[in-house]
Amino acid sequence: MAMNVELLERTAAELVASGKGILAADESNGTMSNRLIAVGVEPSAEARRAYRSNIFATQGYESAISGVILFDETIRQTMDDGTPIPEYLASRGIHPGIKVDTGAKELANYSGEKITEGLDGLRERCAEYFQMGARFAKWRAVIRIGEGMPSVACFSTNSHALARYASICQEQGLVPIIEPEVLMEGSHDAQRCYDVTAEVLKRTWTECRNQGVHLPGVLLKPNMIMPGKGCPDKGSRDEVARMTVECLTSQVPKEVPGIVFLSGGQSDEDATAHLNLMNAMDIDHPWELSYSYGRALLAHALQTWAEGSNEASQNAFKHRANMNSLARSGDWKVELEN
Ligand code: 13P
Repeated sequence: MAMNVELLERTAAELVASGKGILAADESNGTMSNRLIAVGVEPSAEARRAYRSNIFATQGYESAISGVILFDETIRQTMDDGTPIPEYLASRGIHPGIKVDTGAKELANYSGEKITEGLDGLRERCAEYFQMGARFAKWRAVIRIGEGMPSVACFSTNSHALARYASICQEQGLVPIIEPEVLMEGSHDAQRCYDVTAEVLKRTWTECRNQGVHLPGVLLKPNMIMPGKGCPDKGSRDEVARMTVECLTSQVPKEVPGIVFLSGGQSDEDATAHLNLMNAMDIDHPWELSYSYGRALLAHALQTWAEGSNEASQNAFKHRANMNSLARSGDWKVELEN
């Protein structure tokens, strides 16, 4: 099957259209269940559906959200009125997306490191998801910094798998979001995060080029450049923004249409402020700088939903979506948070 370059480029451009970004609601059943337990809700397929369908039914967020990443369970679930979730999102002008990796597993012979799995049967799964309405996909590689980590084995296996995933998605009409996440866990400084991120990006683009991935039809989902959670020097928001744009400028090919950051455990406001600073900076870059946040869009919405209010949950989500939409153009201000 020949790749539909025109469809891929159009979808990618729509996902990073002005003022818009992506909602990552693709937590695996295990992760979502843990989040429900943490706010005192008994986890079940119905609890996950009820919480997420309420978020998706929020009025007026189409101006801030271009696509929603779903998990396999969710793409098969329905809204309260029985409409399939992907069909409902598409009717609101929002692209349904799908997490297609099957999780980060132990990397053989490299204790503490991970390799993301899910390539077996991926072509058939992508074809089914496309039939269900999905137009983009996500695959997350996990890179941990530590003593002797990341290893060359971790870099090379994960970047190779990201490129294999990307080419299969493109063949099947799905825009691949390429996510090599350098974790914030650890006591490393920001420069170490910069160096590791630069290395994984470099290797990933080399693999993508070697495997014929069409760069104008992908999106990159990276971490920002920050010190590890255990580093005593926290750095400033300005430093995060400056180092991140510098690292990406040195490594991301200009053909890539957009960069959609993960929030990775940053506070809601930090995730917005960092993106805002990057877009306000007086530096020309060829790609759009946007968001594909999970926790930074939904942490408060989950808490309020668990407290019993569907409406408060929708309002919390909409507020964060609007704040991040403003950050796309450098127009967010801290006063707007109150
Ligand atoms: P966070 O924004 O919560 O990091 O989630 C984004 C995501 O999809 C990670 O794979």
